[in-house]
Amino acid sequence: MKICIVGASGKLGTYMIRHALERGHEVVGVCRPESVPKLAEFEGRITVIPGRTDDRDVIRRAVAGCDGVLTVLVPWGMAHYASGTAQAVLDHAEPDARLVFSCGWHITRDGKDVYSRRLRWFVKVFGWLGRVVRAVDLDDQVEACRRIFASDRNWTVVRGSDLEEGESQGLPVWSQHVGDPILASNRTRRVDFALFMVSALERDELIHEAPAIVGRETESARRHTPTA
Ligand SMILES: NC(=O)c1ccc[n+]([C@@H]2O[C@H](COP(=O)([O-])OP(=O)(O)OC[C@H]3O[C@@H](n4cnc5c(N)ncnc54)[C@H](OP(=O)(O)O)[C@@H]3O)[C@@H](O)[C@H]2O)c1
Repeated sequence: MKICIVGASGKLGTYMIRHALERGHEVVGVCRPESVPKLAEFEGRITVIPGRTDDRDVIRRAVAGCDGVLTVLVPWGMAHYASGTAQAVLDHAEPDARLVFSCGWHITRDGKDVYSRRLRWFVKVFGWLGRVVRAVDLDDQVEACRRIFASDRNWTVVRGSDLEEGESQGLPVWSQHVGDPILASNRTRRVDFALFMVSALERDELIHEAPAIVGRETESARRHTPTA
């Protein structure tokens, strides 16, 4: 597959590049011009298109001819970066391309997620603080996902739990709603979040789903995953 990774130079992005190359995909990466050096280890193995991820012209060039697009949705700044990025991908990706977006558990598709007091408190305080210092706009990430959910493209929105570094534990397990018992451990290795994103490109059962994921070796996943 030829795939584009939008937001390629971050932690999630670089893990996704590694997984994609291991699977034999051809990779085009988009990242901010100042972050191009962060992709030095992949020189000669991927194509890098420098530019802001909400720049429609950059995205149009990057996704041309791609069978899949993996987008890291981040709520940085107050200039609608996340919704601008999502809209550019929705508008310019090839008609049948698989589109996979990342976000956190705070995004809800149908309002049926049940959140812990800790998560609600975190979103409230982090969202408020981010707006006050004009550094983070969580509402814009919500708007980005609203547009994706309303679209008839072949999308998947992967909702990550709290993340940690560490060796891979394998493909995370998922559920439709935060609050489902299998997700209670609320912990996923970042490398496995990336694995889920890349594997979603080839999993048709995830089209038009917003899987909330958790590490497969966590206590809640072990307790609630049926054994064969
Ligand atoms: N962190 C968590 O605990 C957590 C939990 C659940 C879900 N998630 C989701 O996981 C995904 C990756 O998050 P992450 O925290 O692990 O970060 P990450 O992978 O390191 O990615 C951060 C991204 O944001 C970009 N960025 C940083 N500062 C920016 C700015 N001022 N303006 C524009 N772009 C900027 C980075 O680009 P450069 O390389 O150019 O700086 C990079 O592409 C996100 O979709 C997030 O919602 C994160």
